[in-house]
Amino acid sequence: MPDGYDATYAQWRQDPEGYWLRAASGIDWSTPPGRAFDPAQGVYGRWFPEARLNICHNAIDRHVAAGRGDQPALIWDSPLSGTQSRLTYAALLDRTARLAGAMAARGVGVGDRVVIYMPMVPEAAIAMLACARLGAVHSVVFGGFAAAELAARITDAEPKLVLSASCGIEPGRVVKYKPLLDAALALSPHHPAGCLVLQRETWRCALQPGRDEDMAEAMDAAAPHPCVDVAATDPLYILYTSGTTGKPKGILRDCGGYAVALHHSMGLLYGLRAGDVSWTASDVGWVVGHSYIVYGPLLAGCTSVIYEGKPVGTPDAGAFWRVCAEHGVKVLFTAPTALRAIKKEDPEGKLLAGYDLSRLEALFLAGERCDPDTALWAERLLQRPVVDHWWQTETGWCITGNFRGAGLFPMRAGSGGKPAPGHVVEALDEAGRPVAPGQTGSLAIRLPLPPGCAPTLYRADARFREAYLETFPGHYNTGDAGMVDAEGYVWVMSRTDDIINVAGHRLSTGAMEEVLAAHPDVAECAVVGVKDSLKGQAPLGLVVLKAGVDKPEAVLAKELVALVRERIGPVAAFKEARVVARLPKTRSGKILRATLRKLADGEDFMVPPTIDDPVILEEIGAVLQETRPLA
Ligand code: COA
Ligand code: AMP
Repeated sequence: MPDGYDATYAQWRQDPEGYWLRAASGIDWSTPPGRAFDPAQGVYGRWFPEARLNICHNAIDRHVAAGRGDQPALIWDSPLSGTQSRLTYAALLDRTARLAGAMAARGVGVGDRVVIYMPMVPEAAIAMLACARLGAVHSVVFGGFAAAELAARITDAEPKLVLSASCGIEPGRVVKYKPLLDAALALSPHHPAGCLVLQRETWRCALQPGRDEDMAEAMDAAAPHPCVDVAATDPLYILYTSGTTGKPKGILRDCGGYAVALHHSMGLLYGLRAGDVSWTASDVGWVVGHSYIVYGPLLAGCTSVIYEGKPVGTPDAGAFWRVCAEHGVKVLFTAPTALRAIKKEDPEGKLLAGYDLSRLEALFLAGERCDPDTALWAERLLQRPVVDHWWQTETGWCITGNFRGAGLFPMRAGSGGKPAPGHVVEALDEAGRPVAPGQTGSLAIRLPLPPGCAPTLYRADARFREAYLETFPGHYNTGDAGMVDAEGYVWVMSRTDDIINVAGHRLSTGAMEEVLAAHPDVAECAVVGVKDSLKGQAPLGLVVLKAGVDKPEAVLAKELVALVRERIGPVAAFKEARVVARLPKTRSGKILRATLRKLADGEDFMVPPTIDDPVILEEIGAVLQETRPLA
């Protein structure tokens, strides 16, 4: 790797094929790649088309073979259950090979889908790796989703097996996963052959005879299964994420490109090497968890911390510093919202004083836009580089960032840094022409996308083309708006679609509108993301009642909040609904959501010339000024 960001990036631009083939040498292949990219395959081309490998072998077996068997691979730190444990690479190999054996004995093979619905326990990572070992395709569903969302994912993925746990633990409550899984399986027309369930001591669940089995017993009884050789272009996982409609998109990830990109990024981006401890304080249900709790650190031979806790309240706002100090974390990666939560409770960082953070070298942030105040606060407090990097579920690793392995360039608070090798990022106008430096446009990445990015959507090439490739021919449309300045820094400011970002969680306002519209008293509705000082954004529902309904607003709001929680889940964080007489629309009937959002945030806005009746905005403004009457 040449020194410096500019030289590294220039090297990629001059010879992308050579750059990625060199990066591929960090991976063990059963059939090494003869060429990096074939533009003729797939939707926009495929990476490492003739190569073969197993990513689980690369994440575990090869490190044991190289003498790292006694090094911790995973450290589990769970203040919510009062437990800590360590799993060496040798122990991780044994547990993963046995779970793979148990799954193979139940008929799981190459290409079969397996849904994983588990909390932040080491078994969640073991489950993912065991699927990879068999060449099966995992689909992890985040625990904060409701049964209906889990059912939708089961219906789409058609898993042969479901791997789950009796419960998760949230502050003050036990989240009973198994009843949610039972409800989802009752809702879905697809019936998996069986379920392996991890019984947690916090709450043990009933197992349905003939369908459910105890995961630990099945693993103990199973013979270890070897790694199965697969094509680099074979799918590794499907991760469902919010699109603009209620139907989630199944983002597909391949094996070879992902292995190369993640392994490469561990050194280039995070500056981590084998033996280092990395902690990504996210959840295995999100892409960040897939890439940097599980696959990235293990591919690089690092130790990865799995944390079942919160930034505050478990037990206090010093929790992150405790974990860093206790486990010798070198790089911490989290979402800005977690820092805002810490900053709110401990603005002066008094709780930092008791901990030895001498081994912590950098803090990375992603998942949502980081407000400059929070980035600068963290930098002052930690006296370490704070790197904001921009990502999406679709891309699997960062689009832009700052690169410790090449030597950091000066940071600009509020910017997501500069493009990672593999990406040419442009801000485009509506006609697809690049706007001038510093001007806002739609952020797009020139095709092809680099290794690690989604080659397509699961069983939905046409939807992939339509959602990402058709707006700006020759480009992938990120759905984010922002600018590229004269020095090449990229500034990501907002979404161009109806996706909102709540506490680093990507949510579809369209999906919430579908739920509100299903309430018998609601004639029409709009959900917009309004500013929230902790979570970045929070959803606000505006509903118009059907004629003749005279239910008190507070009663209806309570019902709507409960309905969203039941249909989408607590993760939607939908807490507020207001009744309005009418919604502002264009003359062609389109609800003016962007205007509503600005109105709710108290921002200045131009009354759109296409609005059918501007008085509506004044009416809604007045409603939002009022405090809601109590039920
Ligand atoms: N299983 C079940 N429920 C979950 C859950 C899970 N895995 N994760 C969150 N929830 C629930 C929460 O308990 C909460 O429920 P409540 O309405 O009963 O309080 C709800 O979903 C909303 O959660 P969240 O938006 O996360 O808010 P919070 O108040 O629990 O916590 C923060 C606020 C800032 C501490 C928290 O959002 C956080 O740590 N965020 C980091 C985000 C992150 O890691 N993003 C990944 C991208 S990098
Ligand atoms: P997800 O697919 O859940 O990772 O969400 C991706 C979206 O989160 C992006 O399209 C952005 O809107 C937002 N996002 C993620 N990281 C950043 C960042 N560093 N800066 C600004 N927005 C971000």
